[in-house]
Order: sequence, then structure tokens, then C-alpha cells
Amino acid sequence: MSARTPIHWHPQARWGFYNPVKLTVGRGCRHALVESLTDQTLLIVTTQRGRRQLTEDEHLGALITHNSVLWVDSVQENPGLTALQAEIDRLADQTFDTVIAFGGGSAMDAAKVLNVSLAPECREHSLQTLLAEPARHASARPQPLYTLTTTSGTGSEVTPFATVWHHELKKKRSLAGPAVWPTAAFIDPALTDTVPLAATISTGLDAINQAAESIWNKNANPITLGYATRALQLGIAALPLLAQGNGDINARDQMAEASLLAGLAISHTRTALCHSISYPITAHFGVPHGLACAFTMPAVLRHNLQADDGRFTPLAQALTGSSDLDGLVACFEHLHEAMQVRKRVTANIPSLEALLALEAEMFTPGRADNNLADVTTLTSILEVAWG
Ligand SMILES: [Fe+2]
Repeated sequence: MSARTPIHWHPQARWGFYNPVKLTVGRGCRHALVESLTDQTLLIVTTQRGRRQLTEDEHLGALITHNSVLWVDSVQENPGLTALQAEIDRLADQTFDTVIAFGGGSAMDAAKVLNVSLAPECREHSLQTLLAEPARHASARPQPLYTLTTTSGTGSEVTPFATVWHHELKKKRSLAGPAVWPTAAFIDPALTDTVPLAATISTGLDAINQAAESIWNKNANPITLGYATRALQLGIAALPLLAQGNGDINARDQMAEASLLAGLAISHTRTALCHSISYPITAHFGVPHGLACAFTMPAVLRHNLQADDGRFTPLAQALTGSSDLDGLVACFEHLHEAMQVRKRVTANIPSLEALLALEAEMFTPGRADNNLADVTTLTSILEVAWG
């Protein structure tokens, strides 16, 4: 251990932590949700694939027979402002007791948006207004929202934000505030067992990147660092096993826990530079979110080491067993290579010049400014990521 990298990092200012989402975790735990919901009107927000999965599920199928159900099964990957507003308008005269989000991050985010938008305090406002003026929904009291994740990655099941894409403008927006918190999350890894390989890799990289971004983050504190470090230990071990496609149940369970812990960490810190850079890459080139985030992860880590205040040494020890920070970078580079992140991302982008042309859009307010080391240009980070 070098003298300039003290092992004990302390927050520089007053800090706190708050997350009101009630957690139920473990293989088979979704049964507990079924037992708690009867004779209600449920708004279930999911994809068409999710509707089939839920309906045929040995436990969750009872939700449909024991309750009345309003379905929103039109959720697409990266839900858009126009499509969400259409669903809000379609449901404007409906009433429901409880909302269930079933699926990956897109279903989580769509459910949050619909629940807040359909709250009595918000119904007179368009979604565009709610996105632009958070005060309009800050004191809204939407219905209870229960989240059931079918992927291990997003963390959205435990955060107070929802991503909404303005596809026409190729811009990412965020609905964020106290009304957006889910009520309870059920983390049942059995729901992730049938996720296709490509989605397992992309969502797993999202979870790992979210944990990493929570660590090299100006908002980090001892609680978030603990959650994020544990998430990285679990995720970096589990994802390569899952990428082999052999149905490793233990690895599924570990990845679900990693995703949850990363979500808890970013529910306080939010994400940082990799996520900020990723949004235009997804909007312009259609790169899946987790891959777009992981693309710059080793390069952004190396950039952040120049602002190390002692937090990276314990991380290196936790992940590699050594305090060597070059070894920490190598750990992330190894994962990057093993998941073929560069190849999977650059296959969607015409040229390095096309990537660099988006640099100005990659400074997302509320994300890039969370990054531990300040950054004024992204050119070298993008060039290193491109290879
Ligand atoms: Fe993410």
C-alpha cells in the first residue's frame, strides 16, 4: 500500500441515506406477493413477453384469478414519451388499487411513469410537463407500486427515478422525485432463469457499471460504498459464468443480489460519467443500455484514479486481494474483454468520428457532474474505449 492512498476513506461532509422500498428477496419469494393481493383491481405494466411469463408462472398466475386486472403490455425497450402519453390517455378514466411492474428496467420505468401520471394530483398535467417541472409531482400520492424484476441489472425496482426517452429528439429524460419510489420490491432470481444470453450480458453489465459508478461518485458515502463493493464482488464473479450460457442457478442468484445492491447504491448516489456518455450511444446507435454504459468503464476508472481520495485501495483489495490500483484497472479490463464489450458496441457505430461527433451530448446534467474526477473533454476516454 502506498503512503498517498490511505486505506480508510471518510466522507468529507455531512451525509445520510434513505430508501423506503420494502424488500423481499430470494428464490421463490414472489409467492409472498400473491398471498398479499386479493380482490383488488391491479394495473399490471409489462411487455407482451412479460404478460405471457406472468400468466404462465406457477405462482403469479393466481394474481389474475384472485384480482381484476388492467393490463398495459405494450412496453417496449427504452419506453418513449409519445407511447407512454398514449397509455396515460387510454387509462385516464380508469381506477385501480395497486400497480405491479413486471419485467426489466423498461417495465419498471413505465410503471413508475404511469402510476405518477395517473395520480389525482397529476392527471391534469401532460407527461412532458411532469418531466420538465418536478414540483408538479413532488407531493403526489400515487397508488402502491410493487416491482417484480425479470432481469438482473436495472436497479429501477428500488430507485426514485424513471428513464423516459424522447425518441424524436434522441434525448433521454428522467422522472425523479419522492412520488416515484416503489412501495415494495420482490427480488426472485427464478424469474431471471429464462432471460436470453444477450440480455443477461447487457443487463449484468448495467448492474456492474452502476455499482462502479456509485463508487467513483461525488455522492458516495459509507453505506453506498459497502453496497456497491459487495455488488461488484458478486457481479464480476457471476456474470462470466452466466455468459457461458450453462444455466448456472447460483450465478443467477448472485447476479440478482448484485443488481439489487447496485440499485440501492445508485438510489442515493445516482450514476456518473459512463451512464452520461451512454445515453447518446443508445439513442443514436441503438446500443443496449448496459453495453453502452460498460463501453467506457475501464477508461473512466483510469481517469478517476487521478482524483483518488483513498476509496480505490479498499476496492482493489475487495476485488483482487491486492492494493495495487493497476490490478484494479486490469480487473475491469478483463471483464470488458471477456464480455466482448468493445466488439459488441463498435459493431453498431459507423466510425470513431461518428462517436466523437456526439461528445457534446454526452455531458448529461445530473450524471456527468457526479463523477469523482472532473472532466472537460471526453476525447481520450472515447478513443481508449474504441481501441
Ligand atoms: Fe443503468
